[in-house]
Amino acid sequence: MKKNIASARIDIESSALLKELNDSLPFDKELYREDILGSLAHSKMLSEQGIISKDDYEKIKQGLNELLDEISSGKITLDGSDEDIHMAIERLLTAKIGDAAKRVHTARSRNDQVATDFRLYVLNSNLELSRLLLELIDSFIKVAKDNVDTLLPGMTHLQHAQPINFAYHMLAYASMFKRDYERFISSYERNNISPLGCAALAGTPHPIDREQTAKELGFKEPSINCLDTVSDRDFALEILFNIATMMMHISRLSEELILWSTSEFKFVTLSDKHATGSSIMPQKKNPDIPELLRGKTGRVNGNLVALLTVMKGLPLAYNKDTQEDKEGVFDSVKTAKLSLMVLKEMIDEMKVNRESMENACRVGHLSATDLADYLVREQGLPFRDAYHLVGDIVNRSEELGKDISQLSFEELKSIDSRFSEDVIDILNIRNSMNARESYGGTSVKSTIEQIDILRDWIKSRV
Ligand code: ARG
Repeated sequence: MKKNIASARIDIESSALLKELNDSLPFDKELYREDILGSLAHSKMLSEQGIISKDDYEKIKQGLNELLDEISSGKITLDGSDEDIHMAIERLLTAKIGDAAKRVHTARSRNDQVATDFRLYVLNSNLELSRLLLELIDSFIKVAKDNVDTLLPGMTHLQHAQPINFAYHMLAYASMFKRDYERFISSYERNNISPLGCAALAGTPHPIDREQTAKELGFKEPSINCLDTVSDRDFALEILFNIATMMMHISRLSEELILWSTSEFKFVTLSDKHATGSSIMPQKKNPDIPELLRGKTGRVNGNLVALLTVMKGLPLAYNKDTQEDKEGVFDSVKTAKLSLMVLKEMIDEMKVNRESMENACRVGHLSATDLADYLVREQGLPFRDAYHLVGDIVNRSEELGKDISQLSFEELKSIDSRFSEDVIDILNIRNSMNARESYGGTSVKSTIEQIDILRDWIKSRV
C-alpha cells in the first residue's frame, strides 16, 4: 500500500477522524510562501555544502519557483488531503520534478521548518503592523494640529476634572500608539533568529551552514540552541500580547468616540461612511464601527490566553499541541491590521465639534484646582486649607446655580475677603488650561511641543 509521505512505519490508512483533528493544511496553507522560501534557502545551502548535487538543486529551485507562482496566482489551490503545508509542498514538488524533490528534507525536520515559516510570518507581521501604526499616529497629529486651543473637559472617573484641549487628548492616544509601535519593533528585533537547520530537536550530523540560510531568509543570525528553537513559541506570544495591548488602546478610544457621538456629548460627528442605521428606527445613526473595534478586543485577548495555556505544560521539545499556535495568531494579525486601517480612516474623517466641547467646559467647576493653587501662591495658605476653602466656594456656586468660573469678583469677595481682582483671570477656563505649562502638560505651548516631538519621531522612523 502507498505510504503516507510523513509516516514511515504506519501502514494502514489514517482514520478520517484522526485526519480531521490532525491536519493543519486548512489553516497553515497561509504559510505557503514562507515554506517555499525556506525550502529554496535550505536546498541552495545543501548544494553549496556538497550535500546534494547542483543538478538536483537547479531542478528543486525551478520547481519551487513555479509552485510559488502557481499557488500565488490561484492556478494551484491548497485544498488537498495533505497533512499540512510542508507535506503539500513536498508532494507537489515531487509530482513536478520527481526524485530530486525527495532530497529537500535532508538535514531538516518539519519541526524547524514550521518554526521557520511561522517566525517569518510573525516577524513580517510585526513590521506591517508597525507601519500601519505610524500612519495612524500621523492622523492623530493632524487632528491635534487643528485643535491645540479647542477646550475640552478633562475627566477623571468620567467626571469633569480640569480643562484640557482636544489636541492634548488626541496626543495621549498618539503616545499609546507610539509605545505599541515600539513593542512591535522590539519584538521584531529580539526574535529575528533563524530556526532553519535545527532539524527535529538536536541539530544534524550533516555539514550544514545555518549562518547562510539565516542570511538568505533575511534573519539576523541563526538561533543558538536547537532544543529551545523548535519548541518555544514566545515570539508568537509576543505579537499576541502586542496586539492585545494595542487593541485595548483602540478599545478605550472607541469607547470615547461612542460616548462623544451621543446627543449628550456631541463632541464629534463620525462620517456617515463609518456609521450604520437601524432596521426599524429611521432616525438612527449608530457607531457600529467603534463598537466593533471595542468588541474585537475580546477575540484578541482570547487568542493570547489560548496560546499561553497551550504552552504552559509542554515538555521539551516539539509537541503537536504547538500546532494550535497558528490560527489565533493569524486571526489576531488580520483583526489588528483591519482595525488600524478602519480607525485611521475614521479619525481622518471625523468632524470635531469645537463648540460642544467648549460649552461642556462651562460646567463642572473645572478651574477649582486653579483657585486652590492661587490661594497657596498668593496668600501663602497651606494647600489643604485652600482646598477646603475652595470646596466651600464650589458649594456656594452650586447654590447660585453657577459654575465657579462664572462667579463675579463681588460674589467671591463676599465669601473670602482675601481675594483680589486678578482671581477672575485665574478662574477663566482657557487660562486654566494654558497655565499647565509643566513638561507634558496641557497648555497650548506644551501641546505644540508634544506635536513637534512626535513629528520628529515619526520623521526619524520613515
Ligand atoms: N503541522 C505541524 C505544526 O504546525 C508541523 C510540524 C509537525 N511536526 C511533527 N513532529 N509532527 O506544528
